[in-house]
Amino acid sequence: MKISVCGKGGSGKSTVATLLALSAVSRGLKTLVIDSDESNSGLYRMLGFDAPPSPLMELLGGKRGVKQRMGQKDILSQALISIDEVPPDHATRKDGLILMSIGKILQAYEGCACPMGVLSREFLRKLKLEANEIAIIDMEAGVEHFGRGIDESVDWVILVVEPSYESVALASRIFSISNVMQKKLRAVLNKVDSKEVEMLLTRRLKDIGIEVDGVIPQDPDVFKQCLEGKPLARGKAFGAAARVMEGLFS
Ligand SMILES: Nc1ncnc2c1ncn2[C@@H]1O[C@H](COP(=O)(O)OP(=O)(O)OP(=O)(O)O)[C@@H](O)[C@H]1O
Ligand SMILES: [Mg+2]
Repeated sequence: MKISVCGKGGSGKSTVATLLALSAVSRGLKTLVIDSDESNSGLYRMLGFDAPPSPLMELLGGKRGVKQRMGQKDILSQALISIDEVPPDHATRKDGLILMSIGKILQAYEGCACPMGVLSREFLRKLKLEANEIAIIDMEAGVEHFGRGIDESVDWVILVVEPSYESVALASRIFSISNVMQKKLRAVLNKVDSKEVEMLLTRRLKDIGIEVDGVIPQDPDVFKQCLEGKPLARGKAFGAAARVMEGLFS
């Protein structure tokens, strides 16, 4: 199963991806998390890693290497890639989790993130998972990844919606795009601090045809862990995310 976690900037994609990954590990699944966000770099901390993995871009000689090979059929030399075939530097392991990163924009004038988009899409397309394996992809904010076709090979799109007008507006667009791409979608509310907010958001989403599949509360522990760059714990928000994960298997 490959699932992408998407939504508005700051809505909680990385938080939800992390909590889903922890719950996948608890279910006994071999869990690969792929950091596909070329801007933010803190996902490894949330997941409890001491350092980020070496980006997959480096395996291909950096951005220039991908650009040079973009016109060729075999950007990655194999037709299919299993998790264990990824060199350990690029797929670091801790506490049952495996973490990969596509690449980050680090320097001024280094150009756009398109090569990273190509690499994300191709890697996900070629990634071969066994029945007990799951890949959770932490997407960049917004909808560009849909335009780039990165979600092409995912089985589920997890749409994270926070309590804001913009987040609901973006949810509507993502819902339409997912339908066109014939992707199964699960909408998850995040940072919900009251029953009233939950009902309001649920109603707004229902009006545009989206059913809510999970509600993750505003969790002061998560807030503090994010502030301090600490690993996310299996607390209140984790329980809600675990139910979302459960739903994917039912
Ligand atoms: N369930 C939650 N409870 C409390 N705070 C939360 C929760 N989810 C997210 N946050 C807060 O929101 C912030 C943004 O979360 P996160 O980094 O997961 O969002 P994101 O969508 O991945 O952002 P970006 O678009 O920048 O990648 C966190 O630093 C944390 O302060
Ligand atoms: Mg993020």
